[in-house]
Amino acid sequence: MSYYKIENLEQYFKHYNKSIREPRKFWSKIASENFTWYQESEKIMEFDMAEAKIQWFVDAKVNIVKNCLDRHLSKRGDKTAIIFEPNNPGEAAQHITYNDLYARVSKMANVLREQGVEKGDRVCIYLPMIPELAVSVLACARIGAIHSVVFAGFSASAVAARINDCESKMVITSDGGFRGEKTIDLKGIIDDALNNCPCVEKVLVAKRTNASITMKEGRDQWLQPLLDEASDNNVAEIMDAEDPLFILYTSGSTGKPKGMVHTTAGYMVYTAYSFKNVFSYEENDIFWCTADIGWITGHSYILYGPLLNGATTVIYEGVPSYPDFSRFWEIIEKHKITQFYTAPTAIRALAKENLSYIQKYPLKSLKVIGSVGEPINEEAWHWYNDHVGGKRCPLVDTWWQTETGGILISALAFITPTKPTYASLPLPGIQAVLMDEKRNEIEDNQVTGSLCIKFPWPGIARTIWGDHQRYKDTYFSAFPGKYFTGDGALRDEVGYYRITGRVDDVIIVSGHNLGTAPIEDAINEHPAVAESAIVGFPHDIKGNALYGFVILKESGEYRDRENLMKEINQHVADHIGPIAKLDKIQFVSGLPKTRSGKIMRRILRKIAEGDFSNFGDTSTLLNPEIVEEIKDGKL
Ligand code: PRX
Repeated sequence: MSYYKIENLEQYFKHYNKSIREPRKFWSKIASENFTWYQESEKIMEFDMAEAKIQWFVDAKVNIVKNCLDRHLSKRGDKTAIIFEPNNPGEAAQHITYNDLYARVSKMANVLREQGVEKGDRVCIYLPMIPELAVSVLACARIGAIHSVVFAGFSASAVAARINDCESKMVITSDGGFRGEKTIDLKGIIDDALNNCPCVEKVLVAKRTNASITMKEGRDQWLQPLLDEASDNNVAEIMDAEDPLFILYTSGSTGKPKGMVHTTAGYMVYTAYSFKNVFSYEENDIFWCTADIGWITGHSYILYGPLLNGATTVIYEGVPSYPDFSRFWEIIEKHKITQFYTAPTAIRALAKENLSYIQKYPLKSLKVIGSVGEPINEEAWHWYNDHVGGKRCPLVDTWWQTETGGILISALAFITPTKPTYASLPLPGIQAVLMDEKRNEIEDNQVTGSLCIKFPWPGIARTIWGDHQRYKDTYFSAFPGKYFTGDGALRDEVGYYRITGRVDDVIIVSGHNLGTAPIEDAINEHPAVAESAIVGFPHDIKGNALYGFVILKESGEYRDRENLMKEINQHVADHIGPIAKLDKIQFVSGLPKTRSGKIMRRILRKIAEGDFSNFGDTSTLLNPEIVEEIKDGKL
């Protein structure tokens, strides 16, 4: 019996139970039967939760890129590995076959070696969503260099901090990038960043926009001439299972970003396995994840997960609104996408627009639709399900984190019955538990608690680069012996999980715990409301009271703001109870969001409290200008 693909619900429970009773046997069988190894593991795993030391496939030797590319060539050499859809719809899409990708990655790997990059060296990749990004990532992994992809929207100071933290010796960038109407001067940003990065010896520059840029003698080189000279054959490095594969930075609630370190074999096995099962991937599917490769979602489900399964994966350079709000739907139709994976923030933005943008496209190729990154509210869930999924595609709400490497809690398409706003059940190997305030495990259902995982799975990040103590403190100390996710969750009567949001987003009003997400859901159901965010602010009697920042769908139409506030509060009272009524409502034209679409509540909390003194680091905001506007509105 193979454990790699779950065929039905009964089998899911069987596999799940096996993975709990005999985790080593379960994962060693999957690893052994579905990947190519130089040497297989005998010990399979070792761990010490108190020290936060976790190892999977101990002593095995492997190369993840050989598993992504080389082993597919005999069977799938002419199959498309990557479809590149450019920002401008007038520019032709590229279909890169497995043979082509192998050759391009091999050339790049040879260039990196010639430029002095060795196994274990860190390489910062700061590129737009173009094929060179995928090629660079894979080339690093092929030679055992540790890639540190930095989202090409971060500012010079944010890039510099990430380069210095892991002492990258090389940067791979481009002359610029296209994003909708905008052209981004990536090389200029790197030049600024490198004024403060003594560790960087070389910069390789891909050509994309043909912008005129400055090249620093002795440091910067155009990539293409180097590739032209390089051989398209490359011997992959033999890696230990626990050799670092990549570093990816994620922001903590305080302090500097955390460089999460993922290692080779466990990440490989877990991303491949979760991709296959969550999306019910089959051989001729065309998979599109709209995330950027600069985030974990792009690492795991644009690149590694799909390529490990020999899939065709799409890289889209642009944004959902360019040239208009039908672009996503047009791309799905054009490339006959079978699985579409995006974020609630994109869904809400598109749902705000006229339905005619989507109704032009039948979207019949779609089989599965997915959501990731934040709780998907009821209204967005239904819009996505009805208008994109045509009420026939399972909507998989996938819960996971940069730290987890792959999806931990999600419905498996065509297997797990879905329930709006519920991520549903943990994947095999994932021992999810809810903890109460006294740090006891909650046994009952229909309760909320802090979401923890009480046993290691292969994809978990192993440490924070250069700071194992911080890793231990952040994830393994709140609930000793368990990995603490920082999220709260509700478990319903059948054991389905609904992620209620970061635990720190819970607001206690008059002694009642109120999660922000359900209140926001209630507000968003008002026909005039596009989006909202709730924060707490100190209140003399209640302890905390609720402050709502509300974006209206069309300003002007609801001129009677007083009345509108009453209606919104009536909605909240109807859905949750009078206790959840808002004390203050401020109408705003936008919310401060990080580039990955998360509302920066820290700033809203300060504004709600009337404390305009120090908003902390706002460099990762997509729309820093909105902070001033909201602040002025409050004054
Ligand atoms: O709060 C959870 C939320 O996003 C956090 C992880 O963010 P990041 O590391 O940037 O990774 C995002 C992509 C995996 C989680 O702690 N989150 C992610 N997915 C969901 C979610 N919240 C609710 N439902 C989800 N499906």
